[in-house]
Amino acid sequence: MDPLHNPFSPGAGSPPPELAGRAQILEQARITLGRIKAGRPERSLLLVGLRGVGKTVLLNRIRELAEQSGYKPVFIEAHEGKPLAALLLPPLRQLLIGLDRMANISEKAKRGLRVLKSFFNGVKLKYQDIEIGIDIDPEPGVADSGDLESDLSAVFLALGEAAADRGTAIALIIDELQYLSEEELSALIMAMHQIAQRQLPVVLIGAGLPQLVALSGRAKSYAERLFQFPELGPLQPDDAAAALQEPVIEQQIRFTDEALGEIIRQTQGYPYFLQEWGYQAWNLAAQSPIEVDVVRQATQDSIRRLDANFFRVRFDRMTPREKEYLRALADLGEGHHRSGDIAERLGVKVQSVAPIRNSLIKKGMVYSPAHGDTAFTVPLFGDFMKRIMPQNSARKTDKSPS
Ligand SMILES: Nc1ncnc2c1ncn2[C@@H]1O[C@H](COP(=O)(O)OP(=O)(O)O)[C@@H](O)[C@H]1O
Ligand SMILES: [Mg+2]
Repeated sequence: MDPLHNPFSPGAGSPPPELAGRAQILEQARITLGRIKAGRPERSLLLVGLRGVGKTVLLNRIRELAEQSGYKPVFIEAHEGKPLAALLLPPLRQLLIGLDRMANISEKAKRGLRVLKSFFNGVKLKYQDIEIGIDIDPEPGVADSGDLESDLSAVFLALGEAAADRGTAIALIIDELQYLSEEELSALIMAMHQIAQRQLPVVLIGAGLPQLVALSGRAKSYAERLFQFPELGPLQPDDAAAALQEPVIEQQIRFTDEALGEIIRQTQGYPYFLQEWGYQAWNLAAQSPIEVDVVRQATQDSIRRLDANFFRVRFDRMTPREKEYLRALADLGEGHHRSGDIAERLGVKVQSVAPIRNSLIKKGMVYSPAHGDTAFTVPLFGDFMKRIMPQNSARKTDKSPS
């Protein structure tokens, strides 16, 4: 089929042609947005799930919903290396300037800008490379203590008051939340707590890897009363079939049931992989319907492409010892495994590999579904590890007697 008309869109954050199986979470988001805008109590939303399940795509969709219902959205993506304050300052400045410029004078919006300026002065010393051009005097004594918890709360409150004064609402949308430091996550939760107590029109819509739930609970025990954590997983077979079939039917093409079944089996219903397989199958197919033998060929091409991109970029960020650890985890098979079993597989003591496991968690490669358990954050990563490191270099097998 002509690649020019290929409807599928494999890629981080690429909107799919058919956003399948997420109606329930979108409805939850619609209700949350509506209630908070109306000043009613409601918990913010933090989406959790593995890589490639569609968190970023859904955040973008929710951002559109928010805009349609009169919110001003602020979208940021947390980084391992960049402080939250540095990420937040530019869009918040933009937002407050926007609020300040609306028709009539708003003392609250002006104050918001002054508080933001103070906040900037407070963090400037810590993160010397941030810049902010706000041509206004700071509000001394507010948000400039240098203590992120209290300062961020002060900024959010000023922001919420400015929004309320303007009859609007703010949606703070933050992707990759698991990359925040413990201090930052604490400060963010605390700030949202203050917002909720005053029922100001600010909602937090976030997304992150599954460890986010535990990280939030550890940062602030009341996090669970403040947030809902909808889980995004692989698509159910019917939804996965719709994700593949709907986009091609629009162009008078279809997959046979057997072909769909084979893609779903290979991809286990993971959205990223559905897009990849759909994409390759479309390009390979000579006619409609797209048959199972085309899918089998597509499997080879898909795996080759994933190995060269999606999996590879993650593999390249690992040290040799981290790779060995992941290879041992892969050897134990699908699902999650006891840290003790992984260490045993490597022929070492659990304590000696604990730092490696921690750094893999920080890098977002593995997570802990339950205490002492470890699992990949990227679906099918174990199979990739076996392909790229076919010789199991786990020390157990080649350990010389000592
Ligand atoms: N509900 C869905 N149905 C079909 N494809 C989807 C769906 N959600 C996401 N995708 C596809 O999956 C891929 C990964 O989405 P992304 O939002 O980047 O995942 P995550 O942020 O969880 O890693 C993209 O190619 C996207 O088009
Ligand atoms: Mg993402």
